[in-house]
Amino acid sequence: MTHRPPPRTQDPAGVAQRLLRASPGPAPADPIDWDTPVPDDVWFCRPERLSLYGTPLWEEMDQQQRVELSRHEMASFMSAGIWTELCLMQLLARHMASSGNFGDSRSTYALTEVADETRHCVMFGRMIHAMGCSPYTPSAVVQRLFTFAGTLYSELSVFALALVIEEVNDRLQREIVRDERVQPLVREVCRLHVTEEARHVSFARTELLHTAARASRPHLALQRELTAVSAYVALAQRIHPDVYSAVGLDPARARREARGNPHYRQTLRWSGEKLTAFLAQAGMIGRLQRHWWRRTGLLP
Ligand SMILES: [Fe+2]
Ligand SMILES: [Fe+2]
Repeated sequence: MTHRPPPRTQDPAGVAQRLLRASPGPAPADPIDWDTPVPDDVWFCRPERLSLYGTPLWEEMDQQQRVELSRHEMASFMSAGIWTELCLMQLLARHMASSGNFGDSRSTYALTEVADETRHCVMFGRMIHAMGCSPYTPSAVVQRLFTFAGTLYSELSVFALALVIEEVNDRLQREIVRDERVQPLVREVCRLHVTEEARHVSFARTELLHTAARASRPHLALQRELTAVSAYVALAQRIHPDVYSAVGLDPARARREARGNPHYRQTLRWSGEKLTAFLAQAGMIGRLQRHWWRRTGLLP
């Protein structure tokens, strides 16, 4: 047998770039000019919504450090957005595969949502790089936890968790769209995102109510518990612990002050008030799960 040299290796990033240029989507679909420079002295989100706003540590920070914190908290928020949307896409795909309803309007919309979320993940990833940051990824333990929990979810928790991710982000992003102090790039990404998310929320709310009305009591109880614990883990990813050291703060002190910060607690409750009212009405938050929902910060 003649010896053949192994195939010549190519630069994977270069090959991916070439394939993206030749593909119809999803990457080229957004109308954002990614080459516009991002100024260093303009807020990356609303300062009042930052985890340290109003704390003694905040008072010690200068304006540039506060803006840097907004850059890294936004990069962390968007990274968590990508991770949770990827998880949601897996759940939707698994739910569709087991339902066997291929080609009807509900499954077609679920697939449309997967396509939307793919575009969102591409857009958020580009935004993180345009902001001059690297993505913040959840720990390996959290990723493995999700892989395990994902096998236990039924459509009840799939749609409830879709709402947890979508409604909380939606409320914060709508506010950013209207705030002229925030970077134009961030406002434009949020504007594009909330337009499509409004349809996802309407789909998930309808599917959740339809399914909950037909669920047995034991099934509802198990899915309620799973949803509560998963919501806590998912929402805890939004501010990565490395955010504080990235802007030169003592991470232990920053985390402590953020946890006790009444402004930030109020932000969390405000972002979740519509969601938790709906989930309670739908039978997805019971007395036994309230401690988990309090730990998310969404319930007082
Ligand atoms: Fe999305
Ligand atoms: Fe969505």
